[in-house]
Amino acid sequence: MELLQKNVQRAKANKQRIVLPEGLEPRTLQAADRIIADGIAHIILLGNPAEIQAKAAELGLKHIDQAEIIDPQNHARREAYRDLLMELRKAKGMTREQADELVVNPLYLACLMIKSGDADGEVAGAHNTTGNVLRPALQLIKTRPGLKVVSGAFLIFSPLKEYGENGFFIFADCAVTPNPDSNELAQIAIASADTARSIGDMEPRIALLSYSTKGSAKSEMIDKVTEAYKIAKEMAPDLLIDGELQADAAIVSKIAELKAPESPVAGKANVLVFPNLEVGNVAYKLVERLGRATAVGPILQGMAAPVNDLSRGCSVDDVYNVITITCNQAIAAKK
Ligand code: ACO
Repeated sequence: MELLQKNVQRAKANKQRIVLPEGLEPRTLQAADRIIADGIAHIILLGNPAEIQAKAAELGLKHIDQAEIIDPQNHARREAYRDLLMELRKAKGMTREQADELVVNPLYLACLMIKSGDADGEVAGAHNTTGNVLRPALQLIKTRPGLKVVSGAFLIFSPLKEYGENGFFIFADCAVTPNPDSNELAQIAIASADTARSIGDMEPRIALLSYSTKGSAKSEMIDKVTEAYKIAKEMAPDLLIDGELQADAAIVSKIAELKAPESPVAGKANVLVFPNLEVGNVAYKLVERLGRATAVGPILQGMAAPVNDLSRGCSVDDVYNVITITCNQAIAAKK
């Protein structure tokens, strides 16, 4: 995919430090080996160095000796990170004993490294659940200025080039926030616009989706979406956004002419924002399976520094792509 190649080129030109807490996980290690070989990122693996090297040898990997390996149990900055963790969580009553225990957890350690400026982004989740990957990131790295909600976008590559941006879409939120209110939905739209620009190389045209188009039905659910539209417009007056729109009115120009002729995005939306996580998660999986689209993600958006969660069923290619995308998010976050 041409878009992913562009992300590879940008990452190579401005190498970022990506921490991989699951340092012994075979697909992660294989992807890390390729990332190093291709010169895409500086890789930091968390785990016991001897065990990681033995696993790399078993997998026949040739470049893992160029990665930085940090043993969570035994490294020079353990106390400094423990103190930072206590400081960040003191309002939540974190004790020294709790911090001592958590600082050796690679998922917490990775976030503490990012927070300290010792890494630029994190990729995990080939082994751990979504909740376990996200919780430390939400607690420690938190959201970027101006946003309070983290969400998960998918890059959707449809074989049907007449839709979206030559078949390319961003779908959100498909992964994180179960039932966003109108404010949160507006923020998800704003974060998706950032993703469209920084990863998707396109100017966003955002549709806030529902089961009604411009007042064709009425309910509290639709009110949430129209309210989100107003809030997003206030947050980013120049953004091309509209809602509420049905999915067909959002992406099919003939239907847009009938249902929403005045809309600046109807018929040509390339970013689809779903009213809640149930809809978003079901929609992307159906488009992937029944529509034969390729779905890359979830790409976590709205975080102060990029952390991405892999599916436990991921392939080596998936890990490679997500690391590359994380590099691009890190580059964008520094601008
Ligand atoms: N945005 C920003 N911050 C958040 C968010 C969010 N969406 N959700 C939680 N937080 C913050 C909270 O404010 C809290 O911060 P604090 O401790 O400093 O006050 C911290 O994160 C922990 O919040 P909890 O609500 O206690 O965290 P919890 O562990 O219950 O839930 C989680 C967070 C894991 C993201 C949860 O909402 C979740 O499980 N979401 C669904 C994930 C999922 O299963 N997705 C589908 C699978 S992925 C796929 O199919 C691709």
